[in-house]
Amino acid sequence: MDVQAQSLMHALKAFSQRLLLHPWAKLWVGVLCALPGVYLVYGAFTESLGVNPAETLIRQSGDLTIRALCYVLLVTPLKDLLKMPALLRHRRTLGLAVLAYAFLHLLCYAWLDMGLELDDIVQDIFKRPFIFVGMAGFVFLAALGATSFNAAIKAMGPKRWKTLHQAVYVVATLAVLHFYWMRAGKHRFEDVIFYGAILSLLLLYRMVQALRHKMSRSA
Ligand code: HEM
Repeated sequence: MDVQAQSLMHALKAFSQRLLLHPWAKLWVGVLCALPGVYLVYGAFTESLGVNPAETLIRQSGDLTIRALCYVLLVTPLKDLLKMPALLRHRRTLGLAVLAYAFLHLLCYAWLDMGLELDDIVQDIFKRPFIFVGMAGFVFLAALGATSFNAAIKAMGPKRWKTLHQAVYVVATLAVLHFYWMRAGKHRFEDVIFYGAILSLLLLYRMVQALRHKMSRSA
């Protein structure tokens, strides 16, 4: 890389770092995360979600959940690759966006598919394996969301907190399994392979990092 390109990269990195550390940056990240959900709900109110709005709402909120999950897991590899620790400031906001979209997805299913009938929902969870797996993912996510605040980190201690929050990879595995099972009946796997590949690579990265860390400590 020549000197000019190098100084341009340097300036770009410094600018991004300043943006990420801006006092309002968390708010803007939150707004950006919420936009696709607001657009989806707006579509429902303006009746512009096509011939089957309930199906569109359930599926698109599912897509938003798995996409947000990919973004939150991308934070650490990007931080390492770009050497930009300020990215970590926004991991909690992204994590809460995953939970919010999963909740929207669950709410759309419970309301539009099941008419908010609790007995029917419980029966469905045990009847359809893909619903069971999705629900298990949601329970893990809720536990991560509930312990994502500073008070919880303090109460649990950073080591136990970190161990619990590695369950985000369990959520990712359950999410892909849920998606695979849902699409298995339709034999349409392109999107499942796409998200499965991204999440597998991110999990692999995490495993390699953990192994390196262990080896450097024992050396
Ligand atoms: C970690 C949490 C979850 C993730 C990441 C997730 C993700 C997804 C994805 C990606 C889809 C497919 C969307 C498409 O076809 O484009 C989907 C569909 C669906 N999910 Fe989830 N989901 C989760 C939790 C749940 C829960 C808790 C339930 C209900 C208890 C649920 C019920 C459904 C239903 C009913 C469908 C649509 C099935 C159909 O149209 O045939 N999901 N989900």
